[in-house]
Amino acid sequence: MNLSTLFRSSAPLLPPPRSTSTSSSRTVATENFSIEGRNLNFSITTRQGNYVPILRDCSLRIPSGQFWMLLGPNGCGKSTLLKILAGLLSPTNGTAYVKGSKSYVFQNPDHQVVMPTVEADVAFGLGKFNLTVDEVRSRVSNALDAVGMSNYLQRSVQTLSGGQKQRVAIAGALAETCKVLLLDELTTFLDENDQVGVIKAVRTCLDSSEEVTALWVTHRLEELEYADGAVYMENGEVVMQGDAARILEFIRTRQSAYIKQINS
Ligand SMILES: Nc1ncnc2c1ncn2[C@@H]1O[C@H](COP(=O)(O)OP(=O)(O)OP(=O)(O)O)[C@@H](O)[C@H]1O
Ligand SMILES: [Mg+2]
Repeated sequence: MNLSTLFRSSAPLLPPPRSTSTSSSRTVATENFSIEGRNLNFSITTRQGNYVPILRDCSLRIPSGQFWMLLGPNGCGKSTLLKILAGLLSPTNGTAYVKGSKSYVFQNPDHQVVMPTVEADVAFGLGKFNLTVDEVRSRVSNALDAVGMSNYLQRSVQTLSGGQKQRVAIAGALAETCKVLLLDELTTFLDENDQVGVIKAVRTCLDSSEEVTALWVTHRLEELEYADGAVYMENGEVVMQGDAARILEFIRTRQSAYIKQINS
């Protein structure tokens, strides 16, 4: 038996998602899970007419109010899965469900901020809610507080570091009372201080509100220490999901087996 078969045959840490009653093809019944994907497949057809599967039968469930991470090697399909959950891509088949309003935050901090000042940027998405000026101020202030950026209210966004821009983007989502944050490799372009600042900001948000759930895509194993749970993918498939410490152990075992295999 090769290693891959061995790991795939391990019992999943979470039971498979329950069957559902659906009122629409994108709805999956769920009680304590804010994010759920069932048998998600995604494929593309190249210009040459070749069929390329990118996601294969991916199922995952993220409990409400928790901070989970999505890990896996380059090109295994993490961003594609996250975009499907965000509704930015439609799966070829399978169902995706996110409970409540959601926000997808991109990898590049410079793609996040659109307004000249921090205050204006966080308030940007609130136009659609018909709020009074005081309500807008209060939401902006609370959201900036949640990500540790309240002292930056009047700052020009151009003067912020990458991590501060990411935190402002997260504050924008919180100001809109988004309940699910879908965060794609926010720390890729950041230096170490900024990385820690962003991840701690998300952790603090979740600790102070049971209503917010976050799924964070990352390559960095050290970030798992902030997570409640994790999903590990390889080659378009969800290989394992569950407790963060056990996923970390699983990935480390997998990496050392891979290194041994190469050395031998
Ligand atoms: N529109 C597309 N056309 C062709 N191939 C695509 C397209 N979108 C994604 N892919 C391929 O699908 C696979 C999964 O891509 P995806 O970006 O989801 O991976 P990832 O795990 O997020 O990778 P990374 O860690 O590098 O961000 C990759 O092989 C990628 O090249
Ligand atoms: Mg990606």
